[in-house]
Parts: sequence; structure tokens; C-alpha cells
Amino acid sequence: MINVIFLGPPGSGKGTQAAMLATELKIPTISTGEVLRKEVELGSEIGKLAKSYMTSGGLVPDEIVVGIIKNRIVQDDCQNGFILDGFPRNMNQAVVLDLMLESLNKEIGVVFNFEVGEDVLIKRIAGRFSCKKCGAVYNNYFKQPKKEGVCDNCGSDQFESRADDNESTVKNRLKVYHDSTSELIGYYEKKNLLCSIDAIKSVPLVFGGLIDAVSKISSKTK
Ligand code: AP5
Repeated sequence: MINVIFLGPPGSGKGTQAAMLATELKIPTISTGEVLRKEVELGSEIGKLAKSYMTSGGLVPDEIVVGIIKNRIVQDDCQNGFILDGFPRNMNQAVVLDLMLESLNKEIGVVFNFEVGEDVLIKRIAGRFSCKKCGAVYNNYFKQPKKEGVCDNCGSDQFESRADDNESTVKNRLKVYHDSTSELIGYYEKKNLLCSIDAIKSVPLVFGGLIDAVSKISSKTK
């Protein structure tokens, strides 16, 4: 059983690796970005509140994202572990998460910090697209579908790009990361939970690094 946090700037590969690690460890990924995008698509109250923040690349107010996490981590499928992708994103969220976990008698096993230079991040975000049907993520520069125009996963020929993957929003998302999120690196380092990942490597190599780290942690806690 392990609870994991994925920390890192936009485009560093958190979502890609979270999906792979979740399958490997048979635990769910909780991606606040994914949940919020679905709420926006549904036009729910949360979606309406979140939309303008997401469009500008800013952080959605803490009470909304904390509420999402609070409801999600108590569900049955999270009792054998979970991956938090994109949460916490500032100091207040990290402190609230600590209190939440303490009250549930849970703890974080490792915080993976995805490290990638800014030039590569921008290319990864600019090239990203995904399958409209199953959500599989591709990239114009790094990962095209095996057969052009056809999703490897579900065979659909419908693809889409994220609304917040445009130049001005990306710049603000990176600024927000530096201003608010990056201080969490020191926070988790002090707690001895931080594991740095050289996320410039290929997808399989990054994944190999995560698996090695998780096995080491799991063998220590046995
Ligand atoms: P969110 O959805 O969390 O976006 P993000 O953090 O900006 O991260 P991304 O999804 O852009 O990147 P990623 O690291 O997952 O990279 P990916 O694997 O896709 O958040 C969106 C918005 O929601 C926020 O701006 C905010 O408004 C709001 N929000 C979310 N959480 C919040 C919170 N806690 N508090 C407040 N607001 C919140 O990879 C990127 C591309 O690179 C893909 O095309 C992929 O194929 C490719 N790629 C991946 N790995 C590699 C590799 N190793 N080599 C080559 N290419 C690769």
C-alpha cells in the first residue's frame, strides 16, 4: 500500500506516468486537473467557478480542489493507495492534505518531483493532443499514434487539444508553478519524502525510475 504525490511543472509528464503507475500498482490516480476539466465540460457549479481560473492558467481556489480531494480519498478504491497528480499545488493545500491524511490515519509514502527544463516543457505542451474518446495522450513531437490519425488505444479518429495549452496560458501556468508550487519541493525534502526524477528521459526510462523507487520504498516498509 502506498500513497504517492506527483509534483512538477506543467508538461513534465505527470499525467503520462500517473496513468502507467496506476495500472502497474492497481491503485487510482486522482488528477485535480482532470476532475476540473470534466466539471467544466459538464457545466456544473464547480466547473463554472473553475473555468476562468483554468483559462488564465491560475490556480482554482483551494476550497474547491481540497473539497475534490476530501471526497475522493475516502472512497473504497483509494484504500489500498492512490496517486495524487497535480495536488497539492501550494503550501496551504499541502498543510490541509497533511491534516486530512492524519485524521484518516494515512500518510504519503513518496513525493516524485519531475524535473524538466523550460524549453522542453513548452514543446511538450505545444505538441500535446489526446484522443477525444478514451483520453490517451499523444504528442506531435514525441509520441504520434502508430497509425496516423488513429488512436492506438481505442481506434478512434477523433482528437482534441486542451483549451489551456495555448502560449499565453502556458506562460502563466509556468509562472504559477514557480511562484506557488515549487516551494513544496523544500517542504517535502524536509519531510524526507522527496524523490527527484529526471523527467527529460524517455517515457519508459522515467517509468523504470518510478518503479525502482516504489519497490525500494515498499521493501523498506515491509
Ligand atoms: P493539470 O491538468 O494538473 O495541468 P498541469 O499541471 O499544468 O500539467 P499538465 O497536464 O499540463 O502536464 P503533465 O505533467 O501531466 O504532462 P503530460 O503527461 O500530459 O492542471 C490544469 C489546471 O487545473 C491548472 O492550471 C489549474 O488551473 C487547475 N488545477 C489543477 N490542480 C489544481 C490544484 N491542486 N489547485 C488549484 N488549481 C488546480 O505530458 C505532456 C506532453 O508531453 C504529452 O503530450 C506527453 O505525450 C508528452 N510526454 C510526457 N512524457 C514525456 C517524455 N518522457 N518524453 C517525451 N514526451 C513526453
